[in-house]
Amino acid sequence: MKNLQGRSKERFDANWYFHQGDIPVKYAVKAGMTGGITDCGKQEEGEWLNIAYVDAETADAAVPKDWRKVSLPHDWVVEGSFVNDPNLGSRPGSHGYLPTGIGVYRKMFNVPFEDEGKRITLHFDGVMGVSTVWVNGHLVGTNASGYTSFYYDLSDVLRYGDEGSNIIVVKVDASRCEGWWYEGGGIYRHVWLQTTNPLHIGHWGTYVTTPLVTEASAQVAIRTVVQQEGEETQTYQLISTIVDPEGQFVAAVSDYATAAILDECEMEQILEVPMPQRWSPDSPALYTLISEILVEGELIDRYTTTFGIRSIAFTRNGFLLNGEPTVLKGTCNHQDFAGVGVALPDRVIAYRLELLKEMGCNAYRSAHHPPTPELLELCDRMGIMVIDENRKLDSSPGGIADLTSMILRDRNHPSIILWCMENEEILEGTRMGARILRTQHNVTRHLDPTRPTLAAMNHGWNTGTYSEQVDVVGYNYGQRHQQDIRDHRAYASRIMIGSESASSTTTRGIYETDTDRGYCPAYEGVYMPSWSCTVEQAWNELLTNPFLTGIFLWTGFDYRGEPTPYRWPCINSHFGIMDMCGFPKDVYYYIKSVWTDEPMIHILPHWNWTDRQGEPIEVWVYSNGDEIELALNGRSLGIQPMIKAGHLVWHIPYMPGELVATAYKAGRVHAVKRVGTTGAPARISLEADRTELLADGTDVALVRVSIVDEEGRVVPTADNEVVFTLEGDGVILGVGNGNPSSHESDKGRRRRAFNGHCLVIVQAGVTHGELTLSGVSPGLQTESITLSCGHIEGGNSNDQSQL
Ligand code: GAL
Repeated sequence: MKNLQGRSKERFDANWYFHQGDIPVKYAVKAGMTGGITDCGKQEEGEWLNIAYVDAETADAAVPKDWRKVSLPHDWVVEGSFVNDPNLGSRPGSHGYLPTGIGVYRKMFNVPFEDEGKRITLHFDGVMGVSTVWVNGHLVGTNASGYTSFYYDLSDVLRYGDEGSNIIVVKVDASRCEGWWYEGGGIYRHVWLQTTNPLHIGHWGTYVTTPLVTEASAQVAIRTVVQQEGEETQTYQLISTIVDPEGQFVAAVSDYATAAILDECEMEQILEVPMPQRWSPDSPALYTLISEILVEGELIDRYTTTFGIRSIAFTRNGFLLNGEPTVLKGTCNHQDFAGVGVALPDRVIAYRLELLKEMGCNAYRSAHHPPTPELLELCDRMGIMVIDENRKLDSSPGGIADLTSMILRDRNHPSIILWCMENEEILEGTRMGARILRTQHNVTRHLDPTRPTLAAMNHGWNTGTYSEQVDVVGYNYGQRHQQDIRDHRAYASRIMIGSESASSTTTRGIYETDTDRGYCPAYEGVYMPSWSCTVEQAWNELLTNPFLTGIFLWTGFDYRGEPTPYRWPCINSHFGIMDMCGFPKDVYYYIKSVWTDEPMIHILPHWNWTDRQGEPIEVWVYSNGDEIELALNGRSLGIQPMIKAGHLVWHIPYMPGELVATAYKAGRVHAVKRVGTTGAPARISLEADRTELLADGTDVALVRVSIVDEEGRVVPTADNEVVFTLEGDGVILGVGNGNPSSHESDKGRRRRAFNGHCLVIVQAGVTHGELTLSGVSPGLQTESITLSCGHIEGGNSNDQSQL
């Protein structure tokens, strides 16, 4: 079969130029004209000409000086300096005190002559801000929400072959905010260029469901949209083939149909999968649907869809996955991270998910907006159940378009178990809100009847029929006044979930309140927002009330913005179970003790209290053992039975030395933890999550930096500044330290440690070879780490070419 290349989808992230600030007036005026200007070659001067008419040979020369080369994903807001002055254009505290504004991107590219006649589309996974896209001077579209994926057909306005080069200009206005957290600004998700034949499978054109699943077999229903953008009326064959997780053929079906110009034909086909491998967090088995279109025996399109076979049911008594009662152990998360803002390379997304999964999570709530598609693809593969969330309560055409885009884009992901319509909108509990919510529910159920709808509420559950408009009612902090328990009794058919629980507010490695620097102690509950409870309380509430289905802790990671309870100089939230860099806070170990079976024990605080000799120190222990013995400097301080799903407390007069906690289970040693008084900082330790990177210009290593004493123990109060250098073809993408009040740049080459740690993100270039990262700090022994960059068997951690 020829023409296997009927469809291609290439990452379009490299070689963009970025200019901070608006497009100069001259250009803006011309750009306002739509159409008719592509070949307006008589214009001889001005910025606009530079943008619209450069050709490949002169591209670099033509780039004005204040444009710099960037590769996507890119967030320019994180590159700025923190400002506590709304008049200087900074966002308020809830957005993290960083100036936003306007930025412009441009990119040149050539399209071969033979592609004329094909359909060429440009896909944006997400651009934060109101974006306007011009191609060769033509306005091709605008998009309002930074959380929605969108695409434009460029086929008509491109230049092919010797017609010349093409130029894309994207203006992004990030001054308006959509949420109350750090949102960043720019083309912060991937961009793709897709080419297809005129007769092709539609965009997000397959919908795979599994209406009947038993151990013996699964019925797979496939709906495929085929679009005819050519002028011919063509009879085509649609062959749908299912391949199992091992890559073996399972079943195929073939049908014929005819498409005339501009037809969008939907075809339904049914296949059986015998003895299906069912998708679950423990066994995330993924099947592949290969959809092929042939005309007169010639293959003209091939499109793959990843799907899973599983059943879900939300009931009054909890959630069933494949018929098994399953407690949802989740966290809510925004999308930013240390060093990169919202522009996360795929590997950073994977790293965050790995950390959550290691902690024992089986679920993820994408708060409060749809995530990037790469996150969902990873959740499918890693076995993490997802609440996919619409940005807001809105049944206007724009609101419904955003909701529709989320569902059409995401409905094949087995990881998604709920569609969340909104979060804590002001109209909750009103009749107007109920009408809007119902419209959203109806649209959602129409596009995907296989998953329930959810509203994540914090008020008005029982007024205005609001809660009746969705399938599952979300209780954000429902434990307050026991609203959830009372409602469960009062509303006989209500299905509930703990959609947001426990805004646990702690700072990593801090054990005393510090209002000047804006730190909250790591003993859970010392600071507690009035609307919330501790993680420990939230989990215990679920254990006694399993009808709550699951809990989604607010949040897995600290995020920029919402610095609660403090404002400036604090620029981050403290809600994370892990900090901005993914370093665990103490509460992480509580969760690990109740969400995993891994033998574990954890002691807090550290044992470096030289100025508190003889004073009682409050010591907490988390463990999944039965009994705990604590000893200081070899002397036992007694054995306590472990409190189930709780923690133990000792008050111990401080003396330097070593605290040892031993957990016993069934009379045997189950786990041991030692916390010693360390010496002074002596050297730097560098530990990379991976030392072999793909030399693809995008892969990253996350290097955890620790300040250690002579014996290699992390000094828990160390704040030494480390300067980093990198040799080889790669870049230091960003740095962070998890200090919620640090105003150091995440884009610098230096960072202070915060309570012993900081993080460097190193990005590979395209050259095969070695990268050497060194950390230098006055008075400390220098450390280097070598990363090798090349080809990795099986490709990148996250090959997205089929998304
Ligand atoms: C919730 C809200 C979240 C975050 C959190 C802080 O009510 O849904 O977005 O603001 O409170 O505790």
